[in-house]
Amino acid sequence: MSSKALSLSTPVAVVGAGAMGAGIAQVAAVAGHPVRLLDNRPGAAEQAIVGIRAQLAKLADKGKLTAEAAQAAGERLSAAASSAELAGCGLVVEAIVEHLEVKRSLFRELEAICGADCILATNTSSISVTSIAAGLQAPGRLVGMHFFNPAPLMALVEIVSGLATDRDLAAVLFDTAAAWGKTPVRAKSTPGFIVNRVARPYYAEGLRLLHEGAADCATIDAVMREAGGFRMGPFELMDMIGHDVNFAVTKSVWNAFYNDPRFLPSLIQQELVDAGFIGRKSGRGFYDYREGAERPQPQTAAAAGLPAGIAVCGDSPLAQALAARLQAAGVAFARRDSADGRIAEAGAAVLFQTDGRSATQRASESGIANLVLVDLALDHVKATRLALACARQSGTEVQAAAVGLLQAAGFAVSLLRDVPGLPVMRTVAMLANEAADAVNQGVCDAAAADAAMRLGVNYPRGPLAWADAVGVGQIRIVLANLAAFYGEDRYRVSPLIQQAVYAGRRIHD
Ligand code: NAI
Repeated sequence: MSSKALSLSTPVAVVGAGAMGAGIAQVAAVAGHPVRLLDNRPGAAEQAIVGIRAQLAKLADKGKLTAEAAQAAGERLSAAASSAELAGCGLVVEAIVEHLEVKRSLFRELEAICGADCILATNTSSISVTSIAAGLQAPGRLVGMHFFNPAPLMALVEIVSGLATDRDLAAVLFDTAAAWGKTPVRAKSTPGFIVNRVARPYYAEGLRLLHEGAADCATIDAVMREAGGFRMGPFELMDMIGHDVNFAVTKSVWNAFYNDPRFLPSLIQQELVDAGFIGRKSGRGFYDYREGAERPQPQTAAAAGLPAGIAVCGDSPLAQALAARLQAAGVAFARRDSADGRIAEAGAAVLFQTDGRSATQRASESGIANLVLVDLALDHVKATRLALACARQSGTEVQAAAVGLLQAAGFAVSLLRDVPGLPVMRTVAMLANEAADAVNQGVCDAAAADAAMRLGVNYPRGPLAWADAVGVGQIRIVLANLAAFYGEDRYRVSPLIQQAVYAGRRIHD
C-alpha cells in the first residue's frame, strides 16, 4: 500500500517549545520538513532552535547524521512570532501545557488560521483527544500524536483517535510518523492511551510488594532488573520520572476509570509526594541522591553451601534451565519426573514455580510443608538473580537447601517475605492483564500493545508475547490465585485471557 505520509515540502508547525516540542521539531526537521516553532513565552522558540541546532551538531560529531544533513535540518527550523504565521502549515503538533481548556482554546484559534486541510495534532499524554476536539468546527481534523521523551530517541508514537477523528487523517499521521523514522501504533482515545495505561501495574505492583514488606526497594529493583530483564526496577524508575508526575498520571488514570481498583494509587507514593521527596530531581525519593548518600544494596542470601540430594524434576522451561545451569557448573544431580509440577528437590526443600499463591498457602493445600517458591525470569538460562519465598511451615534447613541449590546453579538469591505471586510473575501477569483488557476493549490490537511497551517504556518483551511464552493458562491461574488470595477485584482476569484459555489459543494467534 502506498504511503499517505505528508510530503516533505509540507510545512509543519510545532506549538510549545519545551522538552517535547523541541524534540518533535527536531524529528520533523531531520525528516525534511520546513518547521515553524511557536511558544507564548517570549524568546522560548528561538532558544529552543539554538538548542536543537546544538543537538544536531552533536549528532553530526557522533557520525549519526552527516554534517550537511545536520546543517540543512537546522536551517529548516524557524521561530514564529504569532499563530498567524502558521497559516500555510499542513500539520500543527501541539505540545503546550497539559491543560484541557488551554489546549482547546489554542486549537480553536488555529482552526481559524490554518487551512481546512491542515491536520491538527496534540501530543497530550493524559487528556482525552475526544474532549480536546469537542467544540472545534471540524473536530474530525484533530488527532493525537503522542511522542515519548526524548522524542528524537524514542521510537514509539501513539496515533490516537478520538470519537470524531477522521480515519483518513489518522492514517496520514500514522504514515507520516513512520516516514519520520518512528514506529507508530494506533490507539483509541481512552485514559492513558496504551503505554500510560498498560504500564501502571509496573509501578503499582512494586508499590504493593513494598507495602506488604516483600522486600526493600533495592531488592525488588534488583529482582526486576536481574530476573525480569527490565532496564530499571520500579522504584529507581519512579524516582527518575518524579513522583509528582508518576503519581499524577496514576491518579488521573484511576479517576478516569471511575476508581477501578486495578489502578488504585499507593499511600506510600502519596507520602513521598506530600514530603516533597519526589525523586532524583529533589535529591530524595525512594533512594537518597544527596551528596555522600550511600546506595543501599539488594538483599542477597549468603553462600549456603551445596545441599545433598539434588534432583531436577520434570521438563518445564525452569527445570530445563536449572538442569542446564547445574550441568554447566559441574554439579551432580538426579533427573526425576514431576507429577505435581515441582521443579526440583534439594535436601529437605521442594521447589515449585510460583502460581500466584503464597508458599504458605500452597504448602497448606498440598501438604508439602517444605515448599519453596521460585519467581519467574525473562530467561531462566541467563538470569543472574532469582527471588524465592519459603512456606512458613518450613524450617531454616529448607531455606538453606533451596538457596544452596540456586546458588550452585549460579543465581544470586533474594529471599523474600512470602507474598503471593513474587515480583516478576505478579508484575508480568498484571501487565499482560492490562494489555489484554486494552485489546479487549478495542483500544489497540495485540501487536500494537506489545510494540508500545517495548518501544515506549523499553520493556524487554511485550506483555502479551510474554504471557504467550509463560502460557496464557498459567497467567490466568496466577491472576485467579491473586484474586482469591486478596479477595480484590484488582486481580480479576481479563475476558481476553479467559477466552484465549477456553479457546486453547495463544493471545497472538
Ligand atoms: P514543557 O513545560 O517543557 O513545555 C511546554 C511549553 O509550552 C513551554 O515552553 C510553554 O511556554 C509553552 N506554552 C504553554 N502554553 C502555551 C500556549 N498557550 N501557546 C504556546 N506555547 C505555550 O512541557 P513538555 O514536557 O514539553 O510537555 C508538553 C506536552 O507534551 C504536554 O501536553 C505533555 O503532557 C506532553 N507530553 C510530555 C511528555 C514528557 O515526558 N514531558 C511525554 C509525552 C507528552
